Amino acid sequence: MKIGILISGRGSNMVAIVEAVQSGLIPDSEVVAVISDKTSAEGLIKARERGIETLAISRNGRTREEHDAEIISELKKRNIELVCLAGYMRLLSSEFIRAFPNRIVNIHPSLLPSFKGLDAQRQAIDYGVKVSGCTVHFVDEDLDHGAIVAQKTVKVLDDDTAESLAARILEHEHALYTEAVKKIVEGAVEIRGRRVIAKQSNRK
Ligand code: GRF
Repeated sequence: MKIGILISGRGSNMVAIVEAVQSGLIPDSEVVAVISDKTSAEGLIKARERGIETLAISRNGRTREEHDAEIISELKKRNIELVCLAGYMRLLSSEFIRAFPNRIVNIHPSLLPSFKGLDAQRQAIDYGVKVSGCTVHFVDEDLDHGAIVAQKTVKVLDDDTAESLAARILEHEHALYTEAVKKIVEGAVEIRGRRVIAKQSNRK
C-alpha cells in the first residue's frame, strides 16, 4: 500500500511508521512521501535521512480549501492510498476527507473521546484522571473524531507532569500507530462489525 504521511513538527510517529515499513514489519507497503505544512518541521530532515521524498506545502495565506487542494493533488499524483496524520496540526477540509474516504488516520495522545485538541496530556493531568493513553482513529471533519481503530491505556502516576505523561504516552503511540497501520494494510480493521478496506479498489 502506498502511504503518505502529513506532519507539522518533530515527526517521531512518522519515523516509527517509516521504520516499520522499511523493516518489513508493515508488509507490502511504501512510505512514498512525507508532507509538512511547516517548512521548519524537524521531521522533514528525519524523513529525508530515511530516503523518503519530502514536500513542504505551507498555507501562505490561502484558504484551508486551497491549501488542502494542493496537498490532495500531490498525494493523488503519487497514487497514495493511505494518509497518516502524525502530529499534523491542521483540521482537514471536507474536500480532503472526501478525496480519501476511509483512508485517513490520525493518532491522538488521549483516550478519545476524552481530551480532544491541543495539550491532551495536560488536560488529562488537570482533570485528575488515573488512566489516559492514546488513540488511532479514522479522520472525519471534526477535530480528533472518527471511528476508532485502536487504543492503548497508560496509567497516570501521582507525580506525573504533563511532560512526563506525554513522554510515556509517546512510547506507546509509536507501537500503537504502527500496529494500527499494519492492520489497515492487511485489511483486518473492523469498525462496529464492518470491515474497513483502505486499499483502492483499482489497485492490486
Ligand atoms: C503526538 O503526541 C501525536 O499523538 C499528536 O501530536 C504529537 C506528534 O508527535 N497528534 P510527533 O511529531 O509524532 O513526534
